[in-house]
Amino acid sequence: MTDPLEQLRDDALREIDSASDEQALEAARVKYLGKSGSISAWGERMRTLGKDEKPIVGKLLNEVRNAVTAALESRAASFRSRKESEALVRIDVSLPGSPHEIGALHPLTQMWQRSIEIFRRMGFALADGPDIEDEWHCFDALNTPPEHPARTEQDTFYLPDGRLLRTHTSTVQIRTMESTPPPIRVISPGAAYRNEEIDATHAAQFHQIEGLYVDENVSVADLKGALEFFMRELFGSGTEVRFRPHFFPFTEPSLEVYVRSKALKGGEQWIEVAGSGVVHPAVFEQVNKARGDKAYDPEKWSGYAFGLGMDRLAMILFDIPDLRLFTQNDLRFLRQFA
Ligand code: DAH
Repeated sequence: MTDPLEQLRDDALREIDSASDEQALEAARVKYLGKSGSISAWGERMRTLGKDEKPIVGKLLNEVRNAVTAALESRAASFRSRKESEALVRIDVSLPGSPHEIGALHPLTQMWQRSIEIFRRMGFALADGPDIEDEWHCFDALNTPPEHPARTEQDTFYLPDGRLLRTHTSTVQIRTMESTPPPIRVISPGAAYRNEEIDATHAAQFHQIEGLYVDENVSVADLKGALEFFMRELFGSGTEVRFRPHFFPFTEPSLEVYVRSKALKGGEQWIEVAGSGVVHPAVFEQVNKARGDKAYDPEKWSGYAFGLGMDRLAMILFDIPDLRLFTQNDLRFLRQFA
């Protein structure tokens, strides 16, 4: 009774062993272990067997089923590993690898981050405003009347609807005071735009950090102290700072800020890096009008403001000869700051 079962096992194992690919192996599986396969058929037949035979045949049938299942699995595993080693053979390990470039921050971004970090230590918070502005925030609120040359179409980029690309970040002074009562101590880094003839020191887009400090009894002395501290942190303790009288409509007095340092390229030369001054009372009055209150009472509050030229500062710090390099995306230039 058990002979045919043993015969069946031997046939199955031989067939599995000689299966040449996965398809042949699957065919063998179906033939023996499939629903109507021959080993399954033996399971059916068990029911017809007598008491004596059942345990003997049953035990052998289990052994046969296990042996065939194990053989199928090991043959399938050998097909899988053959496939994997074939795939590996096709990899040429002698080929050079493809290098991954490591990114780095743009020199202007580095300059911004260094500057912001210094101002934060001095207690300045960050403020923001839009690049596309209206004339009121860019000029009128900053005490710059319609006949002022900064407002001509040659100097500024106007949009068809009358708005414009802001010509300085001083707009953020107004926006901050509109939304926040004094005291205020903010900086605002951002882009500004002018209709310039482009050359090594002029660009249509440039970058500034605006500063505004409003409190009681703020004076020129506070302004000088703050900017001197900032410049020395940035360029080193040997840096000299000079303030020269100037005119800006939104400050009185107004001062231009120059730096000089032996440690920097240019050595003995004074370089202009910022405009600054004490906030003009007319600016506070404009803000009050927009706010509809007297929060910025010029009798009570005073302030200083400044606009730092970021591109200029970066050119000094990194010894960059031409402003256009910042926007040309030439990797030979950018890699030097990585
Ligand atoms: N907005 C001026 C410019 O772009 C720079 C400036 C001057 C900003 C004086 C100020 C300031 O805040 O008080 O030329």
